[in-house]
Amino acid sequence: MDSEVIVNLSIAETAADCIVVPVWKDAGLGEEARALDAALGGALGTVVGSGDYVWEANEDRHLLHGPAGCAAQRVLLVGAGERGRFGRKEAAKFLASALRKVLSGNMPHVHFSVADLAVNDISIDWLAARLAQAAETAAYRYVATKEDAKRKAVLDRLSIGATSESPLDMMRRGKAVGQGANRARELGNLPANICTPTYLADCAQELANEHRSIDVEVIDERGMKALGMGCFLSVAAGSAEPARLIVLKHQGAEEGGKPVCLVGKGVTFDTGGISIKPSAAMDEMKFDMCGAAAVLGVMGAIADLQLPLNVVGLVAAAENMPSGRATKPGDVVTSLSGKTVEILNTDAEGRLLLCDALTYAERFEPTHVIDVATLTGAAIAAFGNEANVVLGNDQALIDRLLQCGQECLDPAWQLPLWPEYHKQLESNFADIANIGGKQAGTITAGCFLSKFAGEFKWAHLDIAGSAWLSEGAAKGATGRPVPLLVEFLTTLTQAPAT
Ligand code: BES
Ligand code: MN
Ligand code: ZN
Repeated sequence: MDSEVIVNLSIAETAADCIVVPVWKDAGLGEEARALDAALGGALGTVVGSGDYVWEANEDRHLLHGPAGCAAQRVLLVGAGERGRFGRKEAAKFLASALRKVLSGNMPHVHFSVADLAVNDISIDWLAARLAQAAETAAYRYVATKEDAKRKAVLDRLSIGATSESPLDMMRRGKAVGQGANRARELGNLPANICTPTYLADCAQELANEHRSIDVEVIDERGMKALGMGCFLSVAAGSAEPARLIVLKHQGAEEGGKPVCLVGKGVTFDTGGISIKPSAAMDEMKFDMCGAAAVLGVMGAIADLQLPLNVVGLVAAAENMPSGRATKPGDVVTSLSGKTVEILNTDAEGRLLLCDALTYAERFEPTHVIDVATLTGAAIAAFGNEANVVLGNDQALIDRLLQCGQECLDPAWQLPLWPEYHKQLESNFADIANIGGKQAGTITAGCFLSKFAGEFKWAHLDIAGSAWLSEGAAKGATGRPVPLLVEFLTTLTQAPAT
């Protein structure tokens, strides 16, 4: 959809299919809204004063059709809650509520009156980015394998008013983030009989075709064998679907400049292998490639934004199946690093893909490596769907990720990698076991990965909880942590990390 900043035009003269106007629960109409109300002969004040609504953010909306006195076809009043408490979360709720309403109608051009919302620590720039992002993600519909019955019109033009063109850059950024998140959602939502490792490689190839800054190389099983990726290959051994290690490079800075490396877990279906999972909700294991999907979403977004940074995206893609050729509990395999691994549980497969991908990342001499993975059920047990769990070996990197998560409402929370936890991974038959005991599963998975991340600053994002929702109409991939990662990479171009 097109983004636009309408500069120095009164709200009453702004033409659109709908103008969205905030109403404070405690303070009624703001300054710009009052100007519009005056042009409309008090029509807004009448609604606000009626007592029919409380104007909580996320709750109350009132749509006026054909208001006399302004250039727009409709005015939508939307609750914004208490002005003194209006922060990022409330702003996001306000925007989502407004967008739900306009998307349910027939309004291709919607103008948001954002001037009154720039209160407390909320800036027009932040609102501009968030609006454009939210408009993209709110308009997403999964239609690849079913029809969309409800849709009326397409929202194709989004505008805000401002005193200069400058928020337009932020709208562009938000749009790229939203589209990147939608790419990740679509890949996550696609069933595993469509979204295979080969499909992910094709998707990466498409990104390279669409963007001059992106190059892609796909390493097949023969290539992985030649490299010595015994852990990676052990995951794919039981599957008829061939595994792929997909290497994407976005060159936004000078050639040879050290890159940031993103590594995504792309298990296109996780049955557990011989350590097979119970049947209940096993369909959700099609989402076990959401880390990979996020990496692809981020690569597309930063290419759209022409981010002046070199970024390598590694997508580790395989299907985890039981079969006569599958890896068995107790099997010992040799990783690309040379360390041997005793596979005590074939359902702890994500770390086996990632350990070889992390070793592979070393050759790019990255400034930072961030892996993204739906790695442990324990992350859901601890945090539900709210947090990306972050662990790593560099506190400055982790702090930046935590900060970025707050800024873009894609929050992360840190768990420790204390030495005490490493003991759980000792094996009698190999250098390391692929599982720890019953306790602290998210941490021991992180400990395992840390053994393969010795040479660089590294953070691990366990997105088992944040990457998809399991229930009802909301069931589906969320696109997280695309916003967090794009925010992080953007801050690196503004204030390089130490
Ligand atoms: N993909 C799963 C993690 C997962 C499970 C994510 C359920 C979301 C919902 C991962 O491959 C896995 O099976 N992890 C095991 C590790 C265990 C065997 C040490 C887990 O968390 O149970
Ligand atoms: Mn598993
Ligand atoms: Zn898995």
